[in-house]
This record gives sequence, structure tokens and C-alpha cells, in this order.
Amino acid sequence: MNGQKQTPILEVRGLSHVYSVGTPFEQKALDDVNLSVDKGEFIAIIGHTGSGKSTLIQHLNGLLRPTTGQVLFHGQDIFQKTSQLRKIRFQIGLLFQYPEYQLFEETVGQDIAYGPANMGLHNSEITRRVSDALDAVGLPQSIAEKSPFELSGGQKRRVALAGVLAMQPEILVLDEPTAGLDPAGREEMFELIRDLHDKRDTTILLVTHSMEDAARVASRLIVMREGQIFLTGAPAQVFGQAEALERAGLTVPQVTKILLALRARGIPVDTRCYTVEQAVQKLLACREEVLGC
Ligand SMILES: Nc1ncnc2c1ncn2[C@@H]1O[C@H](COP(=O)(O)OP(=O)(O)O)[C@@H](O)[C@H]1O
Ligand SMILES: [Mg+2]
Repeated sequence: MNGQKQTPILEVRGLSHVYSVGTPFEQKALDDVNLSVDKGEFIAIIGHTGSGKSTLIQHLNGLLRPTTGQVLFHGQDIFQKTSQLRKIRFQIGLLFQYPEYQLFEETVGQDIAYGPANMGLHNSEITRRVSDALDAVGLPQSIAEKSPFELSGGQKRRVALAGVLAMQPEILVLDEPTAGLDPAGREEMFELIRDLHDKRDTTILLVTHSMEDAARVASRLIVMREGQIFLTGAPAQVFGQAEALERAGLTVPQVTKILLALRARGIPVDTRCYTVEQAVQKLLACREEVLGC
């Protein structure tokens, strides 16, 4: 160790974005956002609808240009050279909200191959990547020959994710990937995303409006409010600030609420928790402290 800090994989500096500048529809969507992501992190971006989450992440791979500010990938401004930007779009994979509406090729295989083909890879490499990506999202190889329109909603979303993974991005940015899925579909999608992080070492930024989901999977939370970063920290730190969260139009997970209510009634329980398992531990610890048993 030489004590020097590594360059973050991704950095956002003083980023502001105004939509439709100079028209009656002018709308400031981001206001001086600063953010730094280290390689291997799993970050959840949460916030009320309209707080700027989608606008922020569309800057990360250059789909939107900052009105002011910068986005740096490995320390380099992604907008500095237009020729670089194209390459960066392959390295920072973005899965849009409801990506299944963007499947447009005749077969699933062709859809997943779209990104790698644009990268100019050889056919054999493209075939290998399509096959790997299907494995990564837990779909059978045989699905490659089907039309995307024959698939269920959950399968279509996996195909869209496979299309992003086939580019082998260093960073994966997901905009509400579980929105509109049933509970089983949500669970499977989370499992899958967690695997991508744990087994493939992908850096992940996940946009969600579910506090429970964010707390379950991410090691750091970023709470957006009115185009700004309002709170940031580990889940326990962020959920410890229930009142501030309510001001951002969010509520803490239900289990945290119960502990906060107990504390308000004079039970000295540690409220920095957000899963049922943690709550059980905190309550047992509290009982031991109070009753000595
Ligand atoms: N294409 C657009 N044109 C104009 N305003 C937009 C556009 N997209 C989003 N906005 C506005 O920018 C703000 C932030 O929106 P968005 O980034 O979509 O938030 P979130 O993803 O958190 O719901 C909102 O006020 C929204 O109405
Ligand atoms: Mg959004």
C-alpha cells in the first residue's frame, strides 16, 4: 500500500442539467451534483419521482450532455472527444426503465448481438458473447431463436439486460429494473443483479424508489431530492435519518419504523437497521441490555 487513493472509476463534478433551455418548458432537473464511484461498488440511487434520478444516470454514459459540469470515467472527461464517447457507451452499460419496449430485432439472439456487433467484434466473438449473456441472465440458449414478442415480460427484461451485458461493460447502470415485475420476477431480477456484482465484479449503480430493495442490495445509498444529492451513506446511516428522508418524500423501511416507534416509547433499541433479520438481532441485544437476559 502506498497510501494513495485510487482514481475513482466514475466521477460527477458540479453537474447541472436544464431541459428545454430558453423555452416556456425550461426545467432544471439537476443542480450541482457531485458524486464519486469506486470500482466494485454497489450503489443505490433513490428518490421521489421527478427528483432527477433518470436525468443523472443518462449523463453517465453521455446520452445527455451536462448544462454545466463534468462526468469523468477513469479520470477522463467523457465529453472531451466525440470519438471516445462511442467507446465509453460500451463500457458504461445503461439499462433503461422498461427496456423491453426497446427490443426490436427479429430474434432474441439478434437483439443481444446488436451491441457487440456495433463494437465491431468478429462474428465468433459476438456468438460467444450472446451465449455468455444468456447464461448470465439465466435464460436457456434455445431462446436465442425466438422472437422477442413470444416472451413473457420478465423474460423480455432479461433479454434487454443480456444485450447490455454482451458489451461486457465495466459499470452497469440500471434504471428501476424491477418496476412492473411481479414479486417473484422482482426477486429473480435482484438475485441476478447481485450475482453480477458478486461473481463478475461489476460496478453497479441501481436506481430504485424502493427503500427496502435499496437497503437489501447496496452498500451505499444516494438519496436525490429536487435535482440534488440530499443524503448519502451506508444504508444504516441513511435510514437513521428518518425525518430527513420524510422531507425528501421517502419513508424508511417498515421494520425500521417499528424500531423507531419502540424507541419513541422509551425502549433503548438501536434503530440503525432495515431488514427483519437485523431487527431481531437489535431487539435481542436490547433485551439483554435492559433485562440482563
Ligand atoms: N425530456 C424531458 N424534458 C423536460 N423535462 C424533463 C424531461 N425528462 C425529465 N424532465 C423533468 O426533469 C425532472 C427530473 O426528472 P427525472 O430525471 O425523470 O426524475 P426521476 O427519474 O427521479 O423520476 C422532472 O421535473 C421531470 O419532469
Ligand atoms: Mg426515472
